Amino acid sequence: MTRLTNKRVLLGITGGIAAYKSAELVRRLQDEGADVRVTMTQAAQAFITPLTLQALSNHPVHLDLLDAETESVMGHIELARWADVIIVAPATADFLARLVAGHGDDLLTTICLAAECPIAVAPAMNQAMWGKVSTQQNLTTLRDRGISIFEPGDGLQACGETGTGRLMDVPLIVDAVSGLFKTGSLAGRHVVITAGPTREAIDPVRYISNHSSGKQGYALATAAAEAGARVTLVSGPTALPPPDRVTLVRVESARAMLDAVMNVIDGADIFIGVAAVADYRPATTESQKIKKQGDGSITLQLIQNPDILRTVATLKDRPFTVGFAAETEQVIDNARKKFEAKKLDMIIANDVSNQEIGFNSDDNETTVITRAGEETLTLMSKATLARRIIELIADQLVTESQTHG
Ligand code: C5P
Repeated sequence: MTRLTNKRVLLGITGGIAAYKSAELVRRLQDEGADVRVTMTQAAQAFITPLTLQALSNHPVHLDLLDAETESVMGHIELARWADVIIVAPATADFLARLVAGHGDDLLTTICLAAECPIAVAPAMNQAMWGKVSTQQNLTTLRDRGISIFEPGDGLQACGETGTGRLMDVPLIVDAVSGLFKTGSLAGRHVVITAGPTREAIDPVRYISNHSSGKQGYALATAAAEAGARVTLVSGPTALPPPDRVTLVRVESARAMLDAVMNVIDGADIFIGVAAVADYRPATTESQKIKKQGDGSITLQLIQNPDILRTVATLKDRPFTVGFAAETEQVIDNARKKFEAKKLDMIIANDVSNQEIGFNSDDNETTVITRAGEETLTLMSKATLARRIIELIADQLVTESQTHG
């Protein structure tokens, strides 16, 4: 399938070491049918030559705002009008700051100023630069202005440090660009997703929680949005940035999560319970910090929390209801039991005893169980897995509507 047929992509390259990956990006965008033109900042040319990009894109590379020759072929305003989408990859911290400030002192910033099409940036930089308040605030501003942020990944960096700041993998950038255009298998649907852990207060400073990072739930929210759905993500506390094109409702406790879900569930088409909801909460929350006791031990009484997934599954006009089963033993058997007990349409079984595919990892391996049978999705990134799960849900919805006429 070529997902970008007839789409005109203007690729802006700025000056970071990840600029060498832009050559591959041009090719992969073309594989999907896109017509790609390239513009490079001066700093980008220190990392990769315009000739490489010209040979790959089959078009002259646009370099200079005041270059009479390229301006006469296609000027900056025409380029901005030509593009269906502008992708800046890699986007340096400096470029992001200049985009926020509305600079127009080079070709790329000027094109961005003049553009009326969607703009996406794929930041890549040293992990400390990524973590700076200035960078993060600039990203928030860009997000608020409707610019898509293709989040960088974690890992070893060219500078020898380890952390967040690696350019998003090229295939994921191509997926994300395609997602900007998709009419999508979930167009017109409302999807409600829970994600992350919950926190159950013991007293004003302590709580019971778990290791859920929220990564899988956030990835599903992004995949559902890419598939054209209106998405409400009800999230417990996580360190993750809000996904693009998703309505994020932040909560702390299981009860607050249930309330937030019930507020939006009416008329929803799909509910996906990914949150690691605490099964129990303290019977009482002390209003003052609990003091250390003389005899060395205290007893905390716990009472059961409401089961959000079960509550949604028993609604009269219930949405297509999907649960997750994080298990440490007899994974499939236990997931099947939950599938029946909670009366679900789909359950995704996940072995969390294995660190590589557990709560905090970037990868996941799962088995999807529906009434029709089982399908194992072997080790893949949480982002890719999310897209597969969304496809499977969309297929099931089509099958169900055909069966029920
Ligand atoms: O029964 P268990 O907690 O293992 O089931 C996991 C599934 O149920 C997950 O989809 C989780 O989001 C959901 N769940 C819930 N509310 C709870 C407990 C679990 O929605 N209180």
